[in-house]
Amino acid sequence: MDEITKKIMNGIDEYYQSSEKKFIPGVTRIQFGGSVFDAAEVKGVVASLLDGWLARGKLTDQFERGLAELVGSKETALVNSGSSALMLAWGALKSPKVPYHLKDGDEIITSALTHVATVNSILHNNLKPVLIDADWTYDINPDLIEGAITKKTRGILPMHFLGNPCKMDKIMDIAKKNNLFVVEDSCDAFPAKYDGKKVGTFGDMGSASFYVAHLLTLAEGGAVFYDNPLYGTLVKSLRDWGRSCPCTICKMHEDPTYKCPSRFENIGKGELENYDSRYMFTNVGYNLRTTEMQAAFGLEQLKKVPEFIKIRERNFNFYKKELEKSGFIKFPEVYKKAEPIWFAVPLTITESAPFKRKELVEFLESKRIETRPFFAGLITQQPAYKNVELKVHGDLPVTKYTKDNSFFLGCYQGITEEMASYVVDSFNEFFKKY
Ligand SMILES: Cc1ncc(COP(=O)(O)O)c(C=O)c1O
Repeated sequence: MDEITKKIMNGIDEYYQSSEKKFIPGVTRIQFGGSVFDAAEVKGVVASLLDGWLARGKLTDQFERGLAELVGSKETALVNSGSSALMLAWGALKSPKVPYHLKDGDEIITSALTHVATVNSILHNNLKPVLIDADWTYDINPDLIEGAITKKTRGILPMHFLGNPCKMDKIMDIAKKNNLFVVEDSCDAFPAKYDGKKVGTFGDMGSASFYVAHLLTLAEGGAVFYDNPLYGTLVKSLRDWGRSCPCTICKMHEDPTYKCPSRFENIGKGELENYDSRYMFTNVGYNLRTTEMQAAFGLEQLKKVPEFIKIRERNFNFYKKELEKSGFIKFPEVYKKAEPIWFAVPLTITESAPFKRKELVEFLESKRIETRPFFAGLITQQPAYKNVELKVHGDLPVTKYTKDNSFFLGCYQGITEEMASYVVDSFNEFFKKY
């Protein structure tokens, strides 16, 4: 058996050693984001499959702990997407077990410059999004938050746009002063820092997405970051159908002979006395779990995070240095205390530029350079939200301008220096016409 396993693993090594990808300008697609992995991840997944345990298990526990270490939260809960992470975080805050918990119709202030998943996490919990404008960091404008607070306001949802940290000291001061919950959409940004502290750890809970375009990937996946163990219990319960199991990490995963004292004894008196707590439900939950194969993949990705961050930084800085010169393109502002980790490169066409975004984007796409608009643009204009009650506070000039004049470009770890030079040359070829 060991010999066969060795052969399989050696075969995977050989495959990756012999499969070199060559960049062909104008032919190879330069993606806005993508997965970068090699034999290590594939061997990890194969080993987990051969081990025979497919559902959440010891590798998932290990990955959750590694992630907590990376982001600096006490614990994390692995879920199947960033969207689920945000939805579960607000869901947990609606539990009567949370002091001064949220109730239907409570208002949550968030940026109008947003991803649908961010706003949906509020709506799916019967809460009410209140949209205010972003500033030129493309994050929620902290100076507008207090003006949007009403008697119904109970929370703030700052989204660290494309990896650029929000002004978290000011946001947390406002939240404390007004007794507001804070859930951070750090899906694009973890483990970027603000004032030396990792984003996703300022508020009550933070979030991660592990979709392929993100810093590290599990193909699909997400996580909730938290320090308060009550949040962990609630998020995990909601994730797991609403199960009552109280432990954050199930010891039975690590030791199948372990006899759990909470399983039959701790269930209390009443109709369910002596029932198995693994099938007792204290919340109306979902199934938003991941597989052990994803954790196996993620454990190898975690080791590569420092290298991935360096490449993103190198590409972003190169683009900034080369593209800003034209005067046609504006890069995002960054708060003094912020240390971004760029998900992608947000670009805004200046008012004086003699061309429209569509012309530039079409040119870049013809060169096989992928672009994307700023997520939802102005979400109130999206067909799905025409009949949804979204409260808008103010005129939203930044969101409106970026909706028509901004886009983003890849800087992820799959973009080599050769590719980045090709991207800059392509921009210059376009600019030459003006
Ligand atoms: C800012 C932001 N929030 C939430 C999400 C949702 O994450 P997922 O795709 O894992 O559901 C994304 C997706 O990329 C995102 O960019």
